[in-house]
Amino acid sequence: MIRTLYFSTAAADLSREDVETIVAHARAANAKRGVTGALAYNGRNFCQLLEGETDTVMALIDTISRDRRHDGFKVIDQKEISERYFPKWSMELVDGLDFSAVINAMKA
Ligand SMILES: Cc1cc2nc3c(=O)[nH]c(=O)nc-3n(C[C@H](O)[C@H](O)[C@H](O)COP(=O)(O)O)c2cc1C
Repeated sequence: MIRTLYFSTAAADLSREDVETIVAHARAANAKRGVTGALAYNGRNFCQLLEGETDTVMALIDTISRDRRHDGFKVIDQKEISERYFPKWSMELVDGLDFSAVINAMKA
């Protein structure tokens, strides 16, 4: 398994409802693929942590990186893991200016 952390910038016209739509879709799709993680959103930037089987996460990261609802996509960190940090969250939306709850999971 791997854990990946990336940052990006939301498209200028992206609404709060659009973000909730992304998360609702992600929850269902990730649950089917055995992907877990958290998406932090501060009203302008995203910081997302994804964990799961290596091939699955790599393919998903490739898809997400090409999604036009955000840009400036940059993987910050990626590592092999034996245990998940967010085993119960197929995708949790974390609100607020402080991304540390998601960034700190990368250190686990
Ligand atoms: C910030 C952001 C985070 C996303 N996170 C996920 C995710 O965790 N899981 C997922 O399946 N799609 C996620 N997406 C959506 C994908 O980019 C893509 O639209 C989706 O996987 C396509 O699903 P489909 O093949 O069922 O149409 C995210 C999109 C954005 C902009």
